[in-house]
Amino acid sequence: MIGRLNHVGIAVPSIEAAKETYRDLYGVTADAITDTKELPPQGVKYAFVNLPNCQIELIEPLGADSPIKNFLEKNPTGGQHHVCFEVPDIYAARDEMVVRGAKVLNEPRIGAHGTPVIFIHPRNSNGVLIELMETPKGDHR
Ligand code: CO
Repeated sequence: MIGRLNHVGIAVPSIEAAKETYRDLYGVTADAITDTKELPPQGVKYAFVNLPNCQIELIEPLGADSPIKNFLEKNPTGGQHHVCFEVPDIYAARDEMVVRGAKVLNEPRIGAHGTPVIFIHPRNSNGVLIELMETPKGDHR
């Protein structure tokens, strides 16, 4: 069974502009917004907006073959891209999802939190791309 909601992924054309929106329109303080980092294996730049109960993950394409490039072509101003739930063991979760007939889109790979993640095809979840992320060790929130 899935655990806590870790983050909501939002694809944006500009992370820096999106940070301004969360700061200026929604009042998020600057210290609750992380620096922008690059994750070349996944073809994205990312930053987190830390909220009291979860995070918003801002993702911007990195490189010509970024997997979110098509999404932004269809949604030029950005849009909600995925929802991420925590699981205790990513390999067990992957195997179980396969048994249950879900389309697992990738082998477990290290995500933005430094723990392995998989993605489940949107067709399995009412059109929503689901990320499953192994809970960081020692994180007992
Ligand atoms: Co994510």
